[in-house]
Amino acid sequence: MVPPYLEGEVAEVLPSGNYNIETTVVKLKTEKGLEELKLYQHWPVRNPRPIKHRKTIFRPLITGQRVIDMFFPLAKGGTVAIPGGFGTGKTMTQHQLAKWSDADIIVYIGCGERGNEMTEVLEDFPKLIDPKTNMPLMNRTILIANTSNMPVAAREASIYTGITLAEYFRDMGYHVAIMADSTSRWAEALREISGRLEEMPAEEGYPAYLPSRLAEFYERAGYVENMNGTEGSVTVIGAVSPAGGDFSEPVTQNTKRFVSAFLSLDKKLAYSRHYPAINWLSSYSGYINLLKDWYEENVSPEIWDLRGRMLKLLYEESKLLEIVKLVGEDVLPDDQRLILETSKIIRIAFLQQNAYHAEDTFVPLEKQYKMLKTIEIFYESSFKAVKVGVPISHLINKDIFESLYKMKYNVPNDNYQVLENLQDEIVEYYGKLHDKYASEK
Ligand SMILES: Nc1ncnc2c1ncn2[C@@H]1O[C@H](COP(=O)(O)OP(=O)(O)O)[C@@H](O)[C@H]1O
Ligand SMILES: [Mg+2]
Repeated sequence: MVPPYLEGEVAEVLPSGNYNIETTVVKLKTEKGLEELKLYQHWPVRNPRPIKHRKTIFRPLITGQRVIDMFFPLAKGGTVAIPGGFGTGKTMTQHQLAKWSDADIIVYIGCGERGNEMTEVLEDFPKLIDPKTNMPLMNRTILIANTSNMPVAAREASIYTGITLAEYFRDMGYHVAIMADSTSRWAEALREISGRLEEMPAEEGYPAYLPSRLAEFYERAGYVENMNGTEGSVTVIGAVSPAGGDFSEPVTQNTKRFVSAFLSLDKKLAYSRHYPAINWLSSYSGYINLLKDWYEENVSPEIWDLRGRMLKLLYEESKLLEIVKLVGEDVLPDDQRLILETSKIIRIAFLQQNAYHAEDTFVPLEKQYKMLKTIEIFYESSFKAVKVGVPISHLINKDIFESLYKMKYNVPNDNYQVLENLQDEIVEYYGKLHDKYASEK
């Protein structure tokens, strides 16, 4: 609680109890005399609060969202952008992260967006229980409301206030995640104010200092050793809302330069109701290598390899779909059609995740891993069958496919027996098919 740059000896301290923020709780004897410490600090919000030093990133920010945790993992102390056109799910994704990510403190900035989205948070969060502490989620959440009907000049203030609050809690040794929805509205405010000041406009009318402002904001993220020797982190997650979903505009392009993870929301996926509409071909996480050890130690030694193999199938699918568009699926050999079938399972059973479903809204890492593993077991055992000549039509077993598609709803988050049974069933079924065809050969 002692502000940065102040040190001394505690002369007086109040016993624990309830005090308002104006009460002097500690008197500190410093070289300059007696300092009175209250339950708040003054800090100029444009300046980053000091730290001892930055540490290398090594821990994930677990979100419970499968496409993120398994394919594009976020890191405590990292930076993330969520760009997407109108209605692609930026707000929904940020709400999901605010609800379920394993940060200690959430700072949520509604910046220039609709007011009812803030109301939603206010209404939803007190009803939800934080799985880590069993307390209402609202207890760990700070909301900064600067909605579209409020003055434009306040948008900048909301962004800086948010990041400073995040640092304030980080300094106490907490892991803080800050969400800004949307940084584009902040950039627009900069443009408007800069115009009124008659500054020279740069790209698309934005001021020339837009990139440096964005950089300064994201640079305040980090996993650090605090001045007081504790460890804490600030993870910055910014939504970007380019007009018409056109990512070539200056805010998206500049943001891309300063963030390490990029969750690209796709209009086409959103229209086809594939939620979260995170495009697996154009998104990336720069934390893959840094988080590898953590995932392999804490989830499974093979998890990163499994991840790579499954992503590869999805890349192959996208190439095959180009061919299918031209000449149809029938011309493809069965092993390639199996790639299409498996990728469809990955997309629908694994990547799609329903934020409104009680069991599916948040999924623990272990279950995510086991779900993906089940899909791979399907792929491997049916691939072996394809290799001895089992036609693809025989591989599509209605019961097995249905179990795969429904595993996200049918497997409880704390008991994976159903998944283990399904894995056994798959191995047995395709093993028998394989043996039958192999012996006929
Ligand atoms: N993970 C999800 N699960 C279910 N529905 C979703 C999900 N993500 C987005 N949606 C749907 O998309 C709609 C628009 O999302 P929203 O976050 O408001 O878009 P944006 O903020 O990008 O304009 C939501 O109201 C919801 O119906
Ligand atoms: Mg929105």
